[in-house]
Amino acid sequence: MNHDESRDLYDRALSVMPGGVNSSVRATRPYPFFVQKGDGGHVIDADGNRYIDFVMGYGPLLLGHDLPEPVQAAVQQRASEGPMYGAPTEVEVELAEFVARHVPSVEMVRFVNSGTEATVSAVRLARGYTGRDKIVIMEGSYHGAQESTLVDGERDDTAPSSPGIPESFAEHTLTVPFNDETAIHEVFEEHGEDIAAVLTEPILGNHGIVHPVEGYHQTLRELTDQYGALLIFDEVITGFRVGGLQCAQGKFGIDPDITTFGKIVGGGFPVGAIGGKSEIVEHFTPAGDVFQSGTFSGHPVTMAAGLETLRYAAENDVYDYVNDLGERLRSGIADILEDQAPSYTVVGTDSMFKVIFTRDGAFGEEHCESGCTQDPTCPRYEHCPKNGADVDRAETERWERLFWPAMKDEGIFLTPNQFESQFVSAAHTADDVEQALEAYKRVL
Ligand SMILES: Cc1ncc(COP(=O)(O)O)c(C=O)c1O
Repeated sequence: MNHDESRDLYDRALSVMPGGVNSSVRATRPYPFFVQKGDGGHVIDADGNRYIDFVMGYGPLLLGHDLPEPVQAAVQQRASEGPMYGAPTEVEVELAEFVARHVPSVEMVRFVNSGTEATVSAVRLARGYTGRDKIVIMEGSYHGAQESTLVDGERDDTAPSSPGIPESFAEHTLTVPFNDETAIHEVFEEHGEDIAAVLTEPILGNHGIVHPVEGYHQTLRELTDQYGALLIFDEVITGFRVGGLQCAQGKFGIDPDITTFGKIVGGGFPVGAIGGKSEIVEHFTPAGDVFQSGTFSGHPVTMAAGLETLRYAAENDVYDYVNDLGERLRSGIADILEDQAPSYTVVGTDSMFKVIFTRDGAFGEEHCESGCTQDPTCPRYEHCPKNGADVDRAETERWERLFWPAMKDEGIFLTPNQFESQFVSAAHTADDVEQALEAYKRVL
């Protein structure tokens, strides 16, 4: 594959953009390919190379790159009627109604412009509502580029994970390993009266894809109730992807107090949202006194794209289709691993998939066929990652330095490290899946 154009573009970019990119994760080694355009389930780079795209914008593109006609029409109409106004529009109400109708715990929604803005506002809302400062997050979790969750450390011994964040932010953030019942009980026993909220993804979606073990969410729900804290589900990735329109909370049957959304709910345009019980969400200004505001929030083009995307998904069995392709990929990869790399683990659910390069535990007759589901009867159960640290112990360098570039050379575009999920879209085909599996077979 020739990458001369991309190389030249990166050379120019390095002069005017830090690291040559606008989001850190895009700076793949030795340099990223620059995308010229999308085409269904594929992207074509500046040198004309074509890739099957399982990055899909890091999750927002449920329908792939060629937006279906109703989505395109709505976006174009909105853009041509003046992109935004600084006054409310009907389409915001329609999308809020759609979300409230489908997501079990959501009665009201505030739209913002990114997942980061959603989690920042959700944490402020929880603190304002409870009058408490501390939050609990899962070790290794990512909730966007926000001060309160960019922390390293364990329990109450935490520190900012980036320069530029005052120590005082981390003082209010407690961390526990995902899926660790003992740790969360102990943290609540020690700090329960000061905890405003537990903030977690229902499935760790950008740290290898880690499923909850049986009963873990229920424990979070019971402890937060017992201590008067809130449970915030960060569904920026899982929202409108896992569990279809009811999201992961519907699939797991858990009723969080607040949910954050992003990615798919904006149909490929910048978006975030905070949803929840009216009694809580109405604490946002102007209904309440927890300040929240934004020039671009509820942007009509984004709202139209999100609404038409979700309507299209509802009316065209999109979830059945993408989940079936996801299942074929996971079980196909599991078969390949059984022969070629039995210590590795297939993870994912619905239209998410990934291989974690775990170091031990062999495939037996009874392994989970299409991605680890934390089934205690599975012979691999003890070896399947239960939290972020388990994923960190995998062969992350091998994944990033050898596997990812080799897959790219095969024309398969994956998220460039061990941690972030791969996504199937409605534009992918059975043929794409077969080609991808052939590439996994050659490269693994
Ligand atoms: C779970 C989760 N929360 C929040 C965010 C932040 O979203 P954004 O990048 O739109 O700010 C992300 C981003 O990938 C995410 O995966």
